[in-house]
Amino acid sequence: MSLMKVFEVPEPILRQKAEKIEKVDNEIARILDDMLETMYATNGVGLAGNQVGLLKRLVVIDCAGEDQEPDILQMVNPVIVAHSKETLCKSEGCLSVPREYADVERWASVTVQYTDKKGNIQTRTADGLLAKAIQHELDHLEGILFIDYLSPLKRNKLLKHLEKRRKKEAKEAE
Ligand code: NI
Repeated sequence: MSLMKVFEVPEPILRQKAEKIEKVDNEIARILDDMLETMYATNGVGLAGNQVGLLKRLVVIDCAGEDQEPDILQMVNPVIVAHSKETLCKSEGCLSVPREYADVERWASVTVQYTDKKGNIQTRTADGLLAKAIQHELDHLEGILFIDYLSPLKRNKLLKHLEKRRKKEAKEAE
């Protein structure tokens, strides 16, 4: 397994639509394992293909707490097939928008259908943090980021804050 580079805003690939996987083979399984390793190494709870420079409909998620058993989802071509009427508005972050957070409204529970690493169709119904992560990661495959749900004012403020911090960190690293 090997670590992958995580792309950050404003990389154009984060704004592109990922393509459907036609066949789940060893190469796809290997990429999913590399994505999982990269996600753990960066302390993320989810990672989508676009974020590692691949326009492929691949998503990995593990929302289990530190004191819990891993709850690994490695999904090929995931689709939300059902969701609750109820929504929740909670704080969200993203490895591609590092260390910036904002409240985003999401469905409280979702059912996702996907193909697993072995090529089998799986279905999972989730609520809480996992439901939020599934919606966030599937958005990535459409080129959508959580900051897109904010008002232009809030979004610009967040991006300016990120840019300011990047410049400061670059200066400190000199
Ligand atoms: Ni993200």
